[in-house]
Amino acid sequence: MQTDKITGEIATGIHQQAGNKSWLLVTEHSSYALGVTEEGLLLQLYWGARLPSFNDLPSVQLPAERSSQDVTLTLAREEYPALGGLRYGEFAAQAVFADGTRDIDLRFEGAEIGERQGLPELRLRLRDAVYPLDVILSYRVDSKNDLIIRSASFHNKGDEAILLERAFSAVWHLPAQFTPRHLTTLAGHWGGETRIQRQPVVAGTVQIESRKGVTGSNAYPWFAIDTQATEQLSEVYFGTIAWSGSWNLRVSTRITGETAIAGGIHDHDFAWTLAGQQSFETPDFVAGFAQDGINGSRHRLHRYIREHVLPQPQASQPRPVLYNSWEATFFDVTEEGQSKLAERAAELGVELFVVDDGWFPARNHDHAGLGDWRIDPQKFPNGLQPLVNRVNELGMQFGIWVEPEMVNPDSDLYRAHPDWIYHFPNRPRSEARNQLVLNVGRQDVQEYLITVLDKLIGDHNVSFIKWDMNRPISEPGWPEYVAAGNNGREVWVRHVEGVYTIMDTLRARHPNLSIESCSSGGSRADLGILERTDQVWSSDNTHPDARLFIQEGISHILPGRVMGDWVTDTPSDRVWNEIPLSYRFHVAMMGMLGIGGHLMHWSKEDLAEAKRWIAVYKQIRPIVQDGEQSWLISPTATEGNWAAVESLTTDASEAVVFAFRRTNPFWEVAPRLRLQGLQPTARYSVQSLGQTDNETQEYSGAALMNQGIALPLGRSSYASCILHLRLINR
Ligand code: DGJ
Repeated sequence: MQTDKITGEIATGIHQQAGNKSWLLVTEHSSYALGVTEEGLLLQLYWGARLPSFNDLPSVQLPAERSSQDVTLTLAREEYPALGGLRYGEFAAQAVFADGTRDIDLRFEGAEIGERQGLPELRLRLRDAVYPLDVILSYRVDSKNDLIIRSASFHNKGDEAILLERAFSAVWHLPAQFTPRHLTTLAGHWGGETRIQRQPVVAGTVQIESRKGVTGSNAYPWFAIDTQATEQLSEVYFGTIAWSGSWNLRVSTRITGETAIAGGIHDHDFAWTLAGQQSFETPDFVAGFAQDGINGSRHRLHRYIREHVLPQPQASQPRPVLYNSWEATFFDVTEEGQSKLAERAAELGVELFVVDDGWFPARNHDHAGLGDWRIDPQKFPNGLQPLVNRVNELGMQFGIWVEPEMVNPDSDLYRAHPDWIYHFPNRPRSEARNQLVLNVGRQDVQEYLITVLDKLIGDHNVSFIKWDMNRPISEPGWPEYVAAGNNGREVWVRHVEGVYTIMDTLRARHPNLSIESCSSGGSRADLGILERTDQVWSSDNTHPDARLFIQEGISHILPGRVMGDWVTDTPSDRVWNEIPLSYRFHVAMMGMLGIGGHLMHWSKEDLAEAKRWIAVYKQIRPIVQDGEQSWLISPTATEGNWAAVESLTTDASEAVVFAFRRTNPFWEVAPRLRLQGLQPTARYSVQSLGQTDNETQEYSGAALMNQGIALPLGRSSYASCILHLRLINR
């Protein structure tokens, strides 16, 4: 076992104790311990701040029964409780064996330590005491980011089928403690995604979920549980499920204070027939521990996503400033109109020009055309190439919108293949936004989509696709599959796997392609989709007042380089006209900057100002996209009146601070803003970017963090600034 020579502290990584029945997973700031009881049950022993060795861990024993109603197996912190015996708490797995037995009894069988996807991995094999079912639990350890990445795989070692009815990725336990805990989750709807919800953790179960077949915007597969209420200093356990279909995350607390967090693919209408000698693998459930508050959890998850999740090489390259035509032209897409917009966009410094919905035949509204991924000869009489060439000549990459999983009933594709959508034979096919969902689990559908998208990308030098998904799955039937003796409830998983396969294939064939994940805005923002996409469209709501809430929420999951934000013209309400262009830019510059306004309608002054902000953005882009992002003032906590966000380089040599005040009815001066994470004794230059009066000031890191900095917000409403800090000596 590797230990530090001076302190005797056990090194980061995976350690196995003599006897091979207990393990300590050590990260830079945390430890996770587990062990096997005499009976062969696998228990969690500890999860929290880093421990120096195995020595202080409790012995691996089942807890005593409290009463015949509160029995040992329910009280035990089992790593992977499977429904069976006297288990009444959260459970991870449920199955029916060929003889009808609906009870699993998993016992420890063996352990292996290795490496997977660049991280050390502990694999623990559990085996049913009687039936030929093995479950392998995987624990990958991201030491630097204090994360444990768990998943499970089911292996049918026999010949008769086993029906899986629940196959969660993990159950995490927190012991009882004296101080109360709080649960933070994200909730929303179209146009109002990722709003922060906070509640005390009390006895009972909080369930968040999506049953839509897509991650959804009503809830997000992410949680944080903290012990105190401050943003900066508190212990936080946090986690997220890497799955882009229906998911379920359950936080259950006993009256005595123990909490179990269980989650994975939703078991709602789910079942998987595990044929003899076959396997089933769950998605990852990534979770971590931080002692530096909710911002600490942000930093860790962002780093993990950048380093281990996002596709390379794109994840190491700056994300380009984009223009998207949707809000400017809606379905009125023409070669001439788009070319003019492209010319204006290029003058401003835009690097990627994206044609949104409306470029394919019959797509003059949202009632027709989805599925027919050909260039509309009426809108583009000379094909798409002249526009692509123009965009490329202007020095920009070309991107295009698609919604591959969908068809309008009014489309050639649907007329040719009405059986390609989810349906039950004797039920109507429910439409939403006039469209139906293609059964992407079918191989012929996957092949069709790969062929047409591959051609679209290859023929037109497409660098970027915006992959949209504007409705949930309904009538999840696949009559032919069921008629062939298969299990129809597999469709929820097969759909997601189909989407992943198509994206993976396109990326393999076009290594320079980038993909934006969009689902009516931010309805598909999870770590599963981020393995094959480069950015997420956070919301169709681009009003800065709404955006600050949405961006605060989504930043719990998404790093700056992934969070897509645009400056647009809508909504054109009374307040809108009072919001300065600079404020709208500043909000959009906090992530991946885009422009969505109708540039042909912008004044000369606005275009000149836009050009200046785009240039400023490019200057600070590496820090905004890849820095450590801390929300210093929460819009949620200040009812939307304030927001301040700091992005800091890892070596604390450079930072960017965005600050916003919405209204100022009492003409007050803003309090000083205290920064974070700077080197206390170093001196920093501070400059307010994009201002005519951008004189540089100098302060020590300690002064900036303790005394704070005066914000150049004046006394007006809708005031904002961007401060750029640079270390000038050490
Ligand atoms: C929904 C997206 O969120 C919008 O940005 C736009 O792409 C429309 N779909 C197009 O139909």
